[in-house]
Amino acid sequence: MNRVATVNRVALVTGAARGIGAATVRGLAASGWSVVAVDLASDDPRLPYPLGTADELHAVVDSAGGGVVAHVADATDPEALGGAVSRAEELFGGLDAVIAAAGVIAGGVPLWEMPEAQLRAVMDVDLGGPLTAARVGIPALLRRPMPREGRFIAVVSAAATRGLPGLAAYSAAKAGVAGLIRGLAVDLRATGVTAVGVSPGSTATAILDESARLYGLEGAQAFAAQVPVERLLAPEEVAAALVWLAGPETGGITGTVIPVDGGLSL
Ligand SMILES: NC(=O)c1ccc[n+]([C@@H]2O[C@H](COP(=O)([O-])OP(=O)(O)OC[C@H]3O[C@@H](n4cnc5c(N)ncnc54)[C@H](O)[C@@H]3O)[C@@H](O)[C@H]2O)c1
Repeated sequence: MNRVATVNRVALVTGAARGIGAATVRGLAASGWSVVAVDLASDDPRLPYPLGTADELHAVVDSAGGGVVAHVADATDPEALGGAVSRAEELFGGLDAVIAAAGVIAGGVPLWEMPEAQLRAVMDVDLGGPLTAARVGIPALLRRPMPREGRFIAVVSAAATRGLPGLAAYSAAKAGVAGLIRGLAVDLRATGVTAVGVSPGSTATAILDESARLYGLEGAQAFAAQVPVERLLAPEEVAAALVWLAGPETGGITGTVIPVDGGLSL
């Protein structure tokens, strides 16, 4: 059987300034990957909470060690994200994994009461981001010579399969990403590139803090009670699954979304 080396693999990660994306960059780097760490690194004027910053993005790169570069880009903009893909190929010689982790949250009210701009932000980033990552990133994965072990991975959400109050748009976007993963897996037939999703539950990040605010809760810790493990997950726990899935040994998994949610989706 042809084997693909586990070292010298190259990844592009969106949403890399903080939370799950940042933990994934650190996890990949610790496993010897080279990484282009992409983030918008500025706020989205359509949303009422702050996004990751350039300082945070650079701190992630510094803490991850050599072989990781920061790249500021809007994950929904094909040209900007294409620049990050080119950077990976120019700096590191190719691309083996695209991990679409950038995401936002908005809602807290029934869909019909949600401001149009917030609805657009959720659909653009949470569904449009992975669509863009697939369209711009997969051609680079396919530029690796055969035999290849390429990975397109999207961060989905337990909201893709559960109706959560006030989060219909977020649920729609994330369910769309689960459909995207299924469709891509079929389009990628026999290419050596797979498409998978990871579905986190309540994970201690800024998105969960914002969710708590949307629900009028005192803090994100309140979400722990609804999860069978009765605690919030750490971003590193979700990242561990993403790093594993990115590796060359997971070529038998495609078209599916794996929950890393402490049992939230049960
Ligand atoms: N935290 C949870 O409980 C939870 C649960 C389920 C799913 N998720 C998903 O996990 C992913 C990561 O979120 P997180 O929890 O780490 O939140 P986070 O807010 O800490 O991180 C999201 C990152 O995405 C970046 N980003 C937002 N819009 C962007 C854009 N247009 N282009 C580039 N970067 C952009 C932000 O700047 C931020 O750094 C998201 O897709 C989110 O929907 C999180």
